[in-house]
Amino acid sequence: MTMTIKKRLGSMHRIGWFFGKQYVTTLIDRYVHRQRREEAVMDFVLQHATAGSPDSVLATMDSFARQRRWLQNVGPTKGAVLVRALRESGAQRVLEIGSYCGYSATLIGRELAARGGHLTAIEISRRNAEVARRIVAHAGLASVVTFRRGTLESEIGHLTEPFDAIFLDHWKDVYLADLKRLEERRLLRAGTVVVADNVGFFDVPDYLGYVRECGRYTSRYERATVEYQEGLEDGVEVSVFNG
Ligand SMILES: C[S@@+](CC[C@H](N)C(=O)[O-])C[C@H]1O[C@@H](n2cnc3c(N)ncnc32)[C@H](O)[C@@H]1O
Repeated sequence: MTMTIKKRLGSMHRIGWFFGKQYVTTLIDRYVHRQRREEAVMDFVLQHATAGSPDSVLATMDSFARQRRWLQNVGPTKGAVLVRALRESGAQRVLEIGSYCGYSATLIGRELAARGGHLTAIEISRRNAEVARRIVAHAGLASVVTFRRGTLESEIGHLTEPFDAIFLDHWKDVYLADLKRLEERRLLRAGTVVVADNVGFFDVPDYLGYVRECGRYTSRYERATVEYQEGLEDGVEVSVFNG
């Protein structure tokens, strides 16, 4: 009981710290830099990353996030978990929900380009979707990634065949609703791997309870840290749909 309370207080403290930092740095973006960090990283990538090189684009975004302004990319550590899951499933058709500046789309696109696969990426923010599209194009992956501006709910009518892999990295309170939408529309097949980011940092008990206990998934938790924040625990849930 005491351990549970301590864990909960620790978690509240971490989330408070995280949002406090985001609030302050967003104010700094607005009043000091006078540019959203998403457009700033785009300019930085277009200026410094080698065109046509996903490796260079990813390294440039990592360097921006570490040395200039923090970015909510999946980052290299959790990105490696994502890539491993894609390789394990041999994924060709991948869906991402939540693209932000296109870091994970570049990571997934790099993986799929090698084997003729395709990524459909859904992003709710028009400005973020444009940044992601330009960064992915700079990486030379425009033909591998299709961006759709909206939510899964608004775009699901355009999705027809099941995906081999799904990356959930949007707002955490809709992970479960969106997973159920995908199930209902038969957009998962036996063997589809669903990778959900940030489930160790944010509380997502409904989603985790569902994939771990409903009996339709074989699910594991991969412990990691918050992107570019080595001291803060985070984790990725990797769940294979059993059909
Ligand atoms: C954590 S960031 C994604 C990071 C990205 N996957 C990466 O690793 O580079 C979350 C993104 O999800 C988007 N988002 C939030 N709710 C969404 C929704 N319901 N549907 C689609 N995108 C959403 C936000 O605008 C934001 O750009």
